[in-house]
Amino acid sequence: MHLGVFEVAGPQVGGTLSWSHPYSDSVHHRELQHWIDVAQLLEAAGFDFLFFADGYGYPTVGGDLPAVAAAGGLNFSGIDPMMIIPTLAHHTSTLGFVLTSSTGVDHPVATARRFATLDHLTNGRIGWNIVTGASQDTIAQLFGHTEMVAHDTRYEMAQEYVDLTLQLWEGCWEDAALVQDKESGVFADRDKLHRVEHVGKHFRSSGFFTVAPSVQRTPVLFQAGSSDRGREFAAGQAECVFLQGTTLPHAAANVADIRARAAAAGRDPQSVKVLVGATVTVAATHDEAIARRAEFEDMQTDEVAAVIYAGNTGIDLSALDPDRPLSQIHESSDGRIGQMGQSNIDRFRRADGTWPLVREVLEELRGRGTRGFTVVGDPIEVADRLEEIMDVTGVDGFLLEAIFSPSDHRLFCELVVPELRRRGRLLAEEDRPAGSGSLRERIGGSSPRLSADHPGARYVPEPTTV
Ligand SMILES: Cc1cc2nc3c(=O)[nH]c(=O)nc-3n(C[C@H](O)[C@H](O)[C@H](O)COP(=O)(O)O)c2cc1C
Repeated sequence: MHLGVFEVAGPQVGGTLSWSHPYSDSVHHRELQHWIDVAQLLEAAGFDFLFFADGYGYPTVGGDLPAVAAAGGLNFSGIDPMMIIPTLAHHTSTLGFVLTSSTGVDHPVATARRFATLDHLTNGRIGWNIVTGASQDTIAQLFGHTEMVAHDTRYEMAQEYVDLTLQLWEGCWEDAALVQDKESGVFADRDKLHRVEHVGKHFRSSGFFTVAPSVQRTPVLFQAGSSDRGREFAAGQAECVFLQGTTLPHAAANVADIRARAAAAGRDPQSVKVLVGATVTVAATHDEAIARRAEFEDMQTDEVAAVIYAGNTGIDLSALDPDRPLSQIHESSDGRIGQMGQSNIDRFRRADGTWPLVREVLEELRGRGTRGFTVVGDPIEVADRLEEIMDVTGVDGFLLEAIFSPSDHRLFCELVVPELRRRGRLLAEEDRPAGSGSLRERIGGSSPRLSADHPGARYVPEPTTV
């Protein structure tokens, strides 16, 4: 079982409200020591990585930031998690770090440089969660763009964006290009450096990538966004997909679809790891866990659910008829439905093509936000349920989304990790195969480098012999 923790460098994860509860310490998210403690806790328990969601956007209703989002810290306010990583790397040695960076803001060269730098500073423990970006409407305005780029065009751009970063990471420096020999006075061998020439529909680049190759060269490529177009993109490029499923059949269908598409793209379907979000509330006894979850649920409101949903989809549920199905959104003629994100609409379409009432959607979203599976119980119940989710859906593991952070992480490490170890689901550190310590090997890769069947491998130049 692969395990990561899903965090944001802000007050609130998962589109729910709990930052002000006494069990939550997320108000310390601007302090380095807070994150050092979290990283060391996870590393000691044997987690694979700490994952940060991120973005420049925030939720709006009717074009403005609602007071409930500001008060609730709902996808509003936070710092840039990338800046924290070198410090965390310095205080850990095996934990991986996955950073979310959108393909809609910076030029690919800037992103490639930052991730290559982080891969050096972490000694190969970096992953990139590639997203086309939530809250596109606010981002477009913040960055002064005249209009938001359409949903499928964002994926087309993402494809080209990643392709260019792969050329920079894989195609410019041969392994032997970095000489760094004081005696001969040669730092880099010009004959082994190759110019990247990219003229695409959305991006252009011509020149040399100035960061020398790092342990992994290409960071482990994660992807989140599970619309049809998102899954196609994931199957082509991602090494690890972050899925948001709430029912076993829905998650199982998504996993099967991603693996089938990966095989069709000529990749080994099992080389694509799929992780699903899980909100685990555990305590020593069943009753204590139920009580802890109830404290969280008492804080949730329809208003919070509606604001988060509006931020992810552009749809204001509070303005819809609560007694009619959600499909009433398709009566709108402004052409914007689904343009901000489809996963959070599609997740409500039932297998028979019908849709729940808006009132039922709000009910379902209250306390759930953008979270995946909800698991509540004592350590045995939690371990049973996690095993069931894995076995029935085919996912490779979980991204844990705390309701009270970081105390939920502490409880999981204390109570559930030993039980998963006992069942042989989690390896003890000493039982892991020896390797370079890279994140890619940690999640199942046979080397720190991209596998030969990944599309990025075609950019690796033939070694020059002089
Ligand atoms: C599980 C999951 C996690 C996501 N995490 C982020 C994130 O951290 N930052 C961000 O800007 N967008 C995030 N997104 C949004 C995606 O970037 C994308 O914009 C959105 O999901 C629309 O694409 P889709 O229709 O394929 O889902 C996430 C989406 C999903 C489903």
